[in-house]
Amino acid sequence: MANFSRWAVNSEIQKIIWDEQKVHAQVRRLGAEIARDYQQQLGSRLWREPPVAVGLLRGAFVFLADLVRELPIPLECDFLQLASYGKDFKPAEIRLVRDLEVPIKGRHVLIVEDIVDTGQTLSFLREMLARREPASVKFCALIDKTPRRRLPTPLDYVGFRFEEDAFLVGYGLDYAEKYRNLPFIAALKIEAFSQEP
Ligand code: PRP
Repeated sequence: MANFSRWAVNSEIQKIIWDEQKVHAQVRRLGAEIARDYQQQLGSRLWREPPVAVGLLRGAFVFLADLVRELPIPLECDFLQLASYGKDFKPAEIRLVRDLEVPIKGRHVLIVEDIVDTGQTLSFLREMLARREPASVKFCALIDKTPRRRLPTPLDYVGFRFEEDAFLVGYGLDYAEKYRNLPFIAALKIEAFSQEP
């Protein structure tokens, strides 16, 4: 169990949902599944056609860093950043903040996302990437949080399914840019995010 006192955790945190050990167990499992699938799909072509692991900034930077170290296959890494301006009951306006450096036409792309909530980010990304004609695109999310889902979001790899409408922080996930550095994933108290500062 993570040691609360070691971390700058304040009274906004309600409880730990997944501690470090649980998170790393899922990351190891996902790494094994993804590596196995690419090995089966590509075999010796992996060296000529290494997949590109794409982390969505900023939330996925911690997960991507751990996940790629569980993928013992040839691999490139790149990053993409989207920003959304949406309210709960309106479609989000999503825009591209930082594009990929790697041209992905004909490449095998693995999208690495920390959390899927409404599904709008991944839906936007799916369409955007399809226009670039990659050889394949797979989606991996550490957390598939379902209560606010608005768009169908098929995922190839999922670490945790989460059916509560709690606000999660830690392991890359933030609240007002805080808590990304926590090594575990925790829920905030409702009063912490329901009041305007
Ligand atoms: C979070 C998360 C996903 C997105 C999921 O990003 O990292 O990218 O929201 O939400 P959705 O399924 O409702 O589209 P956020 O916009 O908070 O930015 P961040 O990655 O910088 O934290």
